[in-house]
Amino acid sequence: MLVIEILLNLFHLFVGTLASQEAFSNDLSFEEYTEQSLLWAPYRPNCYFGLRPRNVDNTPFQLGIMWFDNSRTDGVTRLRHFVDQGDHLNKYGWDIYDPRLGGREIIIDEDNNLNLTIYFTKSHSGQNWAVRLHGEPIDAKRETTASIILYMNQNGENQDSKLFKVDSGSSKLTKFHGSSPELGEYDISINRNSGKLFKSSSLSSMEVAPGCDASKASHLSMNIPDDSVWKAKDVFQTILADSVKSILENRLEDVHTSLIPSVFTIRNIYSLPPGNFHYLQNTFDNSDPMGFDLDVVYNKVKEPEKISSSEDVSNLISRTLNEVTARFNKHFQFSFHDREHRKFAMETLSNLLGGIGYFHGKQLVDRITKLDEDTFREVPLIHPEEEGPLSLFTSVPSRAAFPRGFYWDEGFHLLQIMDYDFDLAVEICLSWFELIEDSGWIAREVILGDEARSKVPGRFAVQNPHIANPPTLLLAFSEMLDRAINQENQNSMNRFGEEEANDENNQLETNSELLLAYARKIYPKLLKHYNWFKSSQQSYLDDYLDVLEEDGILDKVHVNETYRWRGRTVTHCLPSGMDDYPRAQPPDDSELDVDALAWVGVMTRSMRQIAHILALEEDEQMYSSIQSHIVDNLDVIHWSEKDGYYCDVTVGGEWDDQRSFSCHAGYISILPFALKLMPKDSPKLEQIVSLLSDSSKLFSEYGILSLSRDDEYFGKDENYWRGPIWMNINYLVLEALKFYYPEVVSKDKKALTPAKKLYQALKQNLIDTVFHNWKKTGYCYEQFNPNTGKGQGIEHFTGWTALIVNVMGHD
Ligand SMILES: *[C@@H]1O[C@H](CO)[C@@H](O)[C@H](O)[C@H]1NC(C)=O
Ligand SMILES: *[C@@H]1O[C@H](CO)[C@@H](O)[C@H](O)[C@H]1NC(C)=O
Repeated sequence: MLVIEILLNLFHLFVGTLASQEAFSNDLSFEEYTEQSLLWAPYRPNCYFGLRPRNVDNTPFQLGIMWFDNSRTDGVTRLRHFVDQGDHLNKYGWDIYDPRLGGREIIIDEDNNLNLTIYFTKSHSGQNWAVRLHGEPIDAKRETTASIILYMNQNGENQDSKLFKVDSGSSKLTKFHGSSPELGEYDISINRNSGKLFKSSSLSSMEVAPGCDASKASHLSMNIPDDSVWKAKDVFQTILADSVKSILENRLEDVHTSLIPSVFTIRNIYSLPPGNFHYLQNTFDNSDPMGFDLDVVYNKVKEPEKISSSEDVSNLISRTLNEVTARFNKHFQFSFHDREHRKFAMETLSNLLGGIGYFHGKQLVDRITKLDEDTFREVPLIHPEEEGPLSLFTSVPSRAAFPRGFYWDEGFHLLQIMDYDFDLAVEICLSWFELIEDSGWIAREVILGDEARSKVPGRFAVQNPHIANPPTLLLAFSEMLDRAINQENQNSMNRFGEEEANDENNQLETNSELLLAYARKIYPKLLKHYNWFKSSQQSYLDDYLDVLEEDGILDKVHVNETYRWRGRTVTHCLPSGMDDYPRAQPPDDSELDVDALAWVGVMTRSMRQIAHILALEEDEQMYSSIQSHIVDNLDVIHWSEKDGYYCDVTVGGEWDDQRSFSCHAGYISILPFALKLMPKDSPKLEQIVSLLSDSSKLFSEYGILSLSRDDEYFGKDENYWRGPIWMNINYLVLEALKFYYPEVVSKDKKALTPAKKLYQALKQNLIDTVFHNWKKTGYCYEQFNPNTGKGQGIEHFTGWTALIVNVMGHD
């Protein structure tokens, strides 16, 4: 019955536009729902708070928030805007957040003596939104100000776009009216609900120069090119510096210290004509423990459901917070955890979701420079060309260090997100697949536009179309299809039983016909990507068949299915995702990389699954045979009997006519296991479990090490993937243990097999490690020290480290 349904649906897709429109009227409303609920969010994750709409590319509205203590002459050095680990904030991040609904971000900035809470909420329709800033001093006795600068711009320089201030009749309320061809007409009001602006009781006037008065809100309007709006902080600092200079030059007497906040208030010193860009600076007296409240409310003129008062904002905020909490509790079972662990889990997931951004702009690609396969030196990419514009909807590994799309990370993010909001995960996945170009290539890092580029070290900004990366997106996509099909099976079995309550964010999961329609649409693109990957990373084994013959394995090897990462250097293999993990030395073009082969295996398996559900029988058979060749090759070529795990291999070069293993026990040697590519009855499984359980090698009380303690490279040099513990591979190991040894999740304490012992210890160790670091510092980390469990590398890394929530929330 299921297959017939699927076929019928596919048939509808192909019988012409009219019919398919009828058949997919559900689809349309689903798409509308997606567009509207995901239209507005803080999609500029590189900012502490930065808003822009999704899929509005030509004339978006943009908003950002900055703050500093302007009562100090050097205050401007602590002006906050882009997330920066160097700011040393005690804490920042979302403790409750869902991009469809909104949430709450908490910022503790001790240097500025500011405890800032930012609420973001939306109307039911998702068309209108409000931001509430609530600030308090951390220490009310410290004499400080909280100078809050909002900036906003209506993009569309040459189009019919406007954003201008209108008279509000009240000093506490500032109003704007805007319009853009894509957004329509809208009103913005900025309302100071509570708190007082800074005013010295000993002075009759706070004005130090015309327009420089901290006791009044200061507004400056001008034009800034669309592609420079992200430089709002630099522009602010420049104007402010000129203003300060001119004040000091023109004053005969010293400036009273109480006037310093006025000196550091922005004004229109160049007499610029007004434009679509606006700064609004409010300097609050930060000595009142009650703090201040500032609301920014956006109402579309044509939208009937208006947000019209601060009570409305308050009500929407409490509704948002309740709803996100309810959704969260529904998708994860935390009944067996205490309150603090729940808070930790919710905050960690919220920060992963809070890292979702929408990027639009050009990317830099060098299609001229060739890789150096003779000396394997790093080749500078000196012929970058701008290409695009392109768009990408993605989550980011870290708002501070990596606020852009990462192909290798994203699949892991999706494994996490799909447990909470399946449709959102699909939406992100499809956005990535859109990037597959005709050749089949997708960039390893997707860096769109100058704003995204501003956070990238120069040598990583240019992408190279010969470079691949582990195809984790396909890992995630096949998981999605699996779930949808399982769900459909269950539904058809339960047809006459209890109806599952319909969840509006799991429509694709519960209505697999929708997901199938998507799969059908993107299959040709995925096929291009697959073929590109296979051909671009193909090994040169053909030239070394004599070596296999000598070894007596020529007849067992499937010569077409061996791979080598292109673009490795002597010290690094960035394409593999595990940059400095030790590889064969010296590098040679006769190398065969076990992880490259394993990842093609994952891709092939995913393609087979997709072909299966799309009923493309011939394709399915082809993938099936490739997959079995890959599984054979893993064992025949890469398994080292002597070491008892998988290794990279070289079949020529220095060693001439023999196959030589490059064995370094660690993530790469267990990858075929972690990716579930080993046959379920493989006698080698036991050896892998024992390697993973060996505390003189990979096991530790904090998680599985990336490289064995007894490896000569353990902890050496850059020490990135040479021992530190990473959550992504640990997560895969837990999943693989469940796959190969279903008994590991049973509560029965008697049958403690080695696999079960490993699973239970590893799970607990990972939870403890990430949780304790969070408890101590308030942050999640990129990786963890193999000896102490201390979080290290990038701080506030809520990309794949957030997988800990899945680990906690499920058995
Ligand atoms: C920050 O403000 C919130 C809300 O008023 C309060 O609950 C929290 O304890 C404050 N945190 C600090 C570090 O002052
Ligand atoms: C291996 O690849 C070559 C070239 O693409 C192709 O002609 C051949 O049929 C393939 N062999 C197998 C066993 O698939």
